[in-house]
Amino acid sequence: MAERARVAILISGRGSNMAALIYAARADDCPYEIALVSGDKADVPGLQLAHAEGAPILALDAKLLGASYWNTLQDALDAARIDTIALAGFMRIIPAEFVARWAGKMVNIHPSLLPLHPGLRSHEAVLAAGETTTGATVHLVSDEVDSGAILGQVKVAVLPGDTPDTLATRVLIAEHQLYPRLLAEFVSRPLTASWIEQRIDELASHLPEVGRKTSHGSPGWSVGSGKTPKLFAILADHHHGEEAIGLLVKASGPDEMGGLIEAHPDVYYWPKYYGAGGWLAIKLNRRDVDWDHVAEWLERSWRACAPPRLTKLMSITEEF
Ligand code: GRF
Repeated sequence: MAERARVAILISGRGSNMAALIYAARADDCPYEIALVSGDKADVPGLQLAHAEGAPILALDAKLLGASYWNTLQDALDAARIDTIALAGFMRIIPAEFVARWAGKMVNIHPSLLPLHPGLRSHEAVLAAGETTTGATVHLVSDEVDSGAILGQVKVAVLPGDTPDTLATRVLIAEHQLYPRLLAEFVSRPLTASWIEQRIDELASHLPEVGRKTSHGSPGWSVGSGKTPKLFAILADHHHGEEAIGLLVKASGPDEMGGLIEAHPDVYYWPKYYGAGGWLAIKLNRRDVDWDHVAEWLERSWRACAPPRLTKLMSITEEF
């Protein structure tokens, strides 16, 4: 199995969703491990349970720490090499800078079918609106409260005579099913060829005259119009038994390739059959891919393959 994602859970209360994630992570095939649990008050009740269950905990007091709370937390997340943050009943407003730092890597669970009833008191709102169905939502965290991209939902029936408490109890059971499953899906995504292909496609689409072309059945990207567009990037998905999903780009030659592979063997490799043709492989089924770096390689490879009329155009626009 691929290396597990390292997840940090942030809580402010009892932490029953946290417990659901901790227990789910005990399965041998769970793609994440709980590498840190922290809260925003030193005596957050859920921390005791996390500690008893052997999860590394970090007790912080946001009030005491004041402005340095978020930096202290960030340092701890870095030290624990966290890939993904899961908020589970975390009641603090998160500063925009922290949200931006974790964009696309921080998820939350909310006890309603978003976009319906964001914020507090969602069960009261469901009952007041006379709705017959509610549920829970797992979503990415964005700047606005409870409004990031939805990763998945579960529906829960509202029963006659339900109170906010009875409804909350049932929704919570559904939350405990939903969160571990969606978190597993979410952390697995970046290691799949289809997700990687989409991401490269997005980056390649910013370059002029880019089209799609296959190379011996592998997805590729080409530059130039007319009859002979030239391949400048290829996605090698476990090509000929290789363990990597790699992006093949044009390097300057075997010397540069050899040097890079020797210096960063976790990032670069010599692709089977393609290496002799000057193609360098960048391993992308890793959790720590630097996508800006991938974008730079794509552009460099594009430049190496594009017809002069296009590269000239690019140099002219860059002068302005
Ligand atoms: C849950 O209902 C969750 O959806 C909401 O806060 C509650 C936290 O409960 N964000 P717990 O601490 O996980 O038990």
